[in-house]
Amino acid sequence: MTCSILVGGAWGDEGKGKCITYLCDNDKPNIIARAGVGPNAGHSVEFNGEKYGLRLTPSGFVHTDAKLMIGAGVLVNPDVLFNEFENLKKYNVKERMCVDPRCAIISKDHMDRDVKSEHLAKKIGSTGSGCGPANSDRVMRTIELAKDVPELQDYITDVSLEVNEAIDNGEDVFIEGSQGFALSLYYGTYPFVTSKDTTASTFAADVGVGPTKVDEVIDVFKAYISRVGEGPFPTEMTQEEAESKGLEEYGVVTGRRRRIGYFDMELAKESCRINGATQIALTCVDRLFDCARVQNYDELSAETKAFIEDIQTETGVPVTIISTGPDLKDTIDLRKELL
Ligand code: GTP
Ligand code: IMP
Ligand code: MG
Repeated sequence: MTCSILVGGAWGDEGKGKCITYLCDNDKPNIIARAGVGPNAGHSVEFNGEKYGLRLTPSGFVHTDAKLMIGAGVLVNPDVLFNEFENLKKYNVKERMCVDPRCAIISKDHMDRDVKSEHLAKKIGSTGSGCGPANSDRVMRTIELAKDVPELQDYITDVSLEVNEAIDNGEDVFIEGSQGFALSLYYGTYPFVTSKDTTASTFAADVGVGPTKVDEVIDVFKAYISRVGEGPFPTEMTQEEAESKGLEEYGVVTGRRRRIGYFDMELAKESCRINGATQIALTCVDRLFDCARVQNYDELSAETKAFIEDIQTETGVPVTIISTGPDLKDTIDLRKELL
């Protein structure tokens, strides 16, 4: 009976993949729907000792009873989707997938234009996945839609209708956002942003759900910050500093080295405000503090607790999920206590 939206708090790669997988494995929603820009996303999921990098498939796929959906607002690259069907065969992803007929399609031409554009590839540092040019064609009303792609016919479903019927029937719906707040075309560090708004309201619209139907907005932050691509980053640290703290990271889609910085409280406050966050999930706490695999809040050090409580006080939003490692078990879930 809950409709939840999960969003990225900063510049993406906050560990949304792990949080979504944990929440879907635990809460077992009936529908897991992907919102956000498209296959520029890279979500990392570690489940039963295996690692998956997902670009279009909802990260909640591990809950095998759920229907998986891609909302109308999301750009679809059929090759990326079919490739994920192959890689996720044992989870019956193909059999459970629904694609909205109104999804716009990324073509080879969009990818070429993305990679060859001096502005997008060099100045902005885009992922090269064709999303910017595709959204531009969508605005120009020249892009092809999923309903007109023969290979997608088996998956075409009115996602908005299914999601709203599920909500009306008292079922649980989980909406996965991608990218992050600071990459929003409206609220991010323009022009160093992605090609669409990336806040909770747009993610709801992506799957065709009105704001009055949404119960929970979970804003995901990492205990430090990472950013791939160009643009302002007020709390950035030097590469040497990041290395000395063991915080080196590389992108899932592009393999690029990520820029690393300290947690930014002002950004967190703005992200919670504009997303209308009702909960915060905090990831990679073990990489900043010595608490790998801790599953109990009382076992965290006073310093770690102070860090978490400060975030809670400053944003006014409860930190309900604390992640202390990549495995689903490495999670402190405080929802029963705090909500
Ligand atoms: P989104 O783009 O937000 O979905 O993030 P992501 O899932 O793509 O995160 P990213 O690509 O940055 O991958 C993060 C890596 O850290 C993955 O290998 C995750 O399995 C792992 N990870 C996630 N949460 C934690 C955590 O709390 N602690 C540690 N040590 N690793 C984590
Ligand atoms: P585009 O979305 O490929 O056009 O890239 C525009 C900017 O957003 C670049 O700085 C990308 O690195 C960044 N970006 C887009 N999607 C993601 C994501 O899922 N994680 C992190 N950065 C992203
Ligand atoms: Mg990512």
